[in-house]
Amino acid sequence: MDVFEWADIEMQVLECTKCVLSQTRNKPVFGQGPPDANIFIIGEGPGAEEDKKGLPFVGRSGQLLDKILEACNFTREKHVFIGNIVKCRPPGNRTPRPEEKEACLPYLMKQIDMINPPIIILLGGTALKGLIDPDAKITQLRGNWIEWNNRIVMPTYHPSALLRTPARKTEAWEDFKKVFHKYREIVDASHTSPHISV
Ligand code: URA
Repeated sequence: MDVFEWADIEMQVLECTKCVLSQTRNKPVFGQGPPDANIFIIGEGPGAEEDKKGLPFVGRSGQLLDKILEACNFTREKHVFIGNIVKCRPPGNRTPRPEEKEACLPYLMKQIDMINPPIIILLGGTALKGLIDPDAKITQLRGNWIEWNNRIVMPTYHPSALLRTPARKTEAWEDFKKVFHKYREIVDASHTSPHISV
């Protein structure tokens, strides 16, 4: 990882005015995590809390995400980089528009390129459609590994969907357990969690 290039991209994001979201945002959310993270988690876009703090997933869905990561014994400090399809908050948390996603995607692609994670987790339909296929459906593809650009991608429900529909938590947990096992298989065979039997 070229730290100067990384800092340069971060600066571009912080100053970005490529789409209208820049007019209403408070802080862009560049993403958070170690530059050598083996897992790259992608959400939709910042909400109100994220927009205030400039950090990803720090509101209610972030707290749920942290619980799931903790159960897998993954941390934001060591294992995962967390980013979004768009880096600025869509007003009222509406779904990002095609031209906003298009303007922002090169930043995410560059981040994926530089971090070079073997595993990607897509949280929800916007992330799945934005990265893999605009016609893909999260309800159909979740829980299944997708091969993409020499990486493997696990689509699963967005934590906000889990907060709205708690019955989906069981399926989401199955998906995260698959990621846990894959991490043991291809990254670190000694990785364990008291919550998952191996
Ligand atoms: N929801 C998202 O998709 N991303 C965030 O960063 C926070 C909430």
